[in-house]
Amino acid sequence: MTNRLKILVVAGARPNFMKVAPILQRLRAHNAAVGSEGTVFDYRLVHTGQHYDARMSDVFFGELSLPAPDINLGVGSGSHAAQTAAVMTGFEPVCLQERPDWVVVVGDVNSTMACTLVAAKLGIKVAHVEAGLRSFDRSMPEEVNRIVTDALADLLLTPSSDANENLLREGIPASKIELVGNVMIDTLVANLEKMRALPLAGRHGIKEKEFVYVTLHRPSNVDARETLAPIMGQLKQLAESLPVVFPMHPRTRKMCEQYGIGLNGESGLRILEPVGYHESLWLTAHARLVLTDSGGLQEESTYFRTPCLTLRPNTERPVTVTVGSNRLTSVERLGADLREVLGRGLTLGSIPPLWDGQAAGRIVKVLLDRGR
Ligand code: UD1
Repeated sequence: MTNRLKILVVAGARPNFMKVAPILQRLRAHNAAVGSEGTVFDYRLVHTGQHYDARMSDVFFGELSLPAPDINLGVGSGSHAAQTAAVMTGFEPVCLQERPDWVVVVGDVNSTMACTLVAAKLGIKVAHVEAGLRSFDRSMPEEVNRIVTDALADLLLTPSSDANENLLREGIPASKIELVGNVMIDTLVANLEKMRALPLAGRHGIKEKEFVYVTLHRPSNVDARETLAPIMGQLKQLAESLPVVFPMHPRTRKMCEQYGIGLNGESGLRILEPVGYHESLWLTAHARLVLTDSGGLQEESTYFRTPCLTLRPNTERPVTVTVGSNRLTSVERLGADLREVLGRGLTLGSIPPLWDGQAAGRIVKVLLDRGR
């Protein structure tokens, strides 16, 4: 007799797509290989629609060979409360109709928390991939999302041992926690060939290891003129000596427009539309330095051993600093840190444990072991 395990996998925003891709691929591979006596996964992909622009969403479905979502809630943008509420009201009827055994959520975006809340209240088990990360900074919306999601989840799938320690400190029973490794790196490793095949050297006028790759979108950096204006000033100054490639998140572009910060006509500063996954990997691998406030880029630059300055007072991914090539910086220190790292370089660091491309396989095995 074949057992069926019904799973809803949730993705909502850009950084989620790279995390669900290897999980879906492993679920599919398991089903293809399972014998008549084994457990079959009956899984659906739910896209909340938190990100909806072609460059923030569709492009990743193509590049990562993701199946089209079975269900799209189409929630779009809004305040935190409005967006969270829209995901919840959209996801509740899906759960009631589908009655899954597990809802699998990834990362720390509003969609992650909203779907967790819905499932928990319906008595549906939640597995959280990338559980246990903490910046210890509740002014960061993602930190609130992480704490709520982890408090409610039934299965906490962690990327690194610091995450296990955080969860145990918060009183989460060890029996709910499984260290599976970093699922983002599964996707990175699986896409190295496609990244290498990109004909990007020479595009944007850049040469390998002779440019800085910048991504900035956190509200704490881009929402206030007092931070955004000096950051853009530093980048314009930097671009006089070294090309700066800055694919700009829609939020950041909107704020530059609002504050009248000019984006054109600076010689070495190349402001682009958001780039796809393979292009971002290429830029990370070949930059002399990455400057970012993204969680994913801290990890990807660590994998490529590219020096990274993270424009934040803290990181929920401390392993990228203690083991990898990441260092924190601030608006005040940015100019000095850029000069220092570009002059002397950062210690390169190494690749943390369980960043081995096999995390999704371990996740699927845990789901099978836990069953209904
Ligand atoms: C969200 C996540 C953040 C993640 C980031 C990656 C939360 C709280 N934040 O932040 O953790 O690092 O995604 O991008 O969930 N917009 C568009 N098109 C889109 C999506 C957004 O133009 O497809 C614009 C809208 O003006 C919107 C703004 O970007 O209001 C912010 O989008 P939102 O989803 O609220 O948060 P992000 O800043 O993208």
